[in-house]
Amino acid sequence: MVTKAENELMTRVGPGAPCGELLRNYWMPVAPAAELSDAKPKKRIRVLGENLVLFRDGKGRYGLVEEQCRHRRASLYYGFIEDDGLRCPYHGWKFDVTGRCIEQPFEPKGTTPKPDAAQKAYPVESLGGILFTYMGKGEPPLLPRWETLVRRDGLRNVVVLPVHKCNWLQCQENSVDPTHTYYLHGHTLKLMGFDDRRTQYYYRPIENYDFQLCEEKTWTGIRKIRTYGGDRPETETGHPMIFPNVLMNPQGPKLVTHWRTPIDDENTYIIMLEFSPSPDGAIVDQPVSDIATTYVPEPFLPNGEYNLADFPPQDQMAWETQGVIYDRSEEYLGHSDKGIVMFRRLLKRQIEQVQAGQEPDGLIRDPALNECISFTVSSGQAREARKMEERKAASPAE
Ligand code: FES
Ligand SMILES: [Fe+2]
Repeated sequence: MVTKAENELMTRVGPGAPCGELLRNYWMPVAPAAELSDAKPKKRIRVLGENLVLFRDGKGRYGLVEEQCRHRRASLYYGFIEDDGLRCPYHGWKFDVTGRCIEQPFEPKGTTPKPDAAQKAYPVESLGGILFTYMGKGEPPLLPRWETLVRRDGLRNVVVLPVHKCNWLQCQENSVDPTHTYYLHGHTLKLMGFDDRRTQYYYRPIENYDFQLCEEKTWTGIRKIRTYGGDRPETETGHPMIFPNVLMNPQGPKLVTHWRTPIDDENTYIIMLEFSPSPDGAIVDQPVSDIATTYVPEPFLPNGEYNLADFPPQDQMAWETQGVIYDRSEEYLGHSDKGIVMFRRLLKRQIEQVQAGQEPDGLIRDPALNECISFTVSSGQAREARKMEERKAASPAE
């Protein structure tokens, strides 16, 4: 049973909140790289309860700074991009991508900006078509090179979901909820008249489920394992929830990484990276500039109800209707929620670890471990997608 105090502990993400401090130890994706261009080199974002400006200076370097200027707090979003930084629109103080103040135009001649005139700033790295930031203290760990971000034998596509108006933990708990797929996805789609193999895949009776805590060298998390019955019985190789806010999920022929970045306590930014392996394993040279971004539209029908004709709005409906910050002290768990209980224990343990001054688990500091981090996931989804393609090819009119 989760108390109201524990619920607060696990859900609050702002600066100084115990969970916020934990999450600041991990790199967070904040935007598709394609969103910053020469024509539009700035973006206003909110991450972990902080208002920030993401920008690219004239030399192509990425910066992420607090939105309010160090001087008299005007918004740097309206600032001027220059070769070596971002100049405030109000009095022209200029900050480089590390936040260092490099110009104060109307200060007495001969004075140089003091170190404490620096703008609060966070490092940014670009990988696989996504920009990531590290908002923690001290030397950042390595940005994990999950296989979807770095494999070269296929193509990448970035997907951005509409902002979810709920706390991040609701989205992430779903990653260790193996039974929701039957009714929320399979049954819903079946009743709406869908009967493709993807619907059939999830509409098989779930006969068993299991969870494994994983403490690997490069990640910590939980695998959920499902056993389906019916006329196409199968046990899935469990795919992992990577602590704290990532899911690695096979979707049809693709391997998809889902990140749930808290915008603040009540809103969550979900960005996904789809990796489609080449059927013959061929290396594909896809420059970052060729990685497309798909924006999933808001999930509502004209009457204001959720349009439940696809997976993402089905999940969004379930998570948002739990409440903006779901009150776990009111819930009544079943046996199938074992993975959720494991996740919450892990989360609380990691919060305590950080409160005790230690690093949380799953940070990578050894480059030798970080060349390409691969995952085993079940092949059933890819098999079903292949069969759908074969059927389409056999009867193209269908
Ligand atoms: S408020 Fe930014 S330079 Fe004055
Ligand atoms: Fe789902």
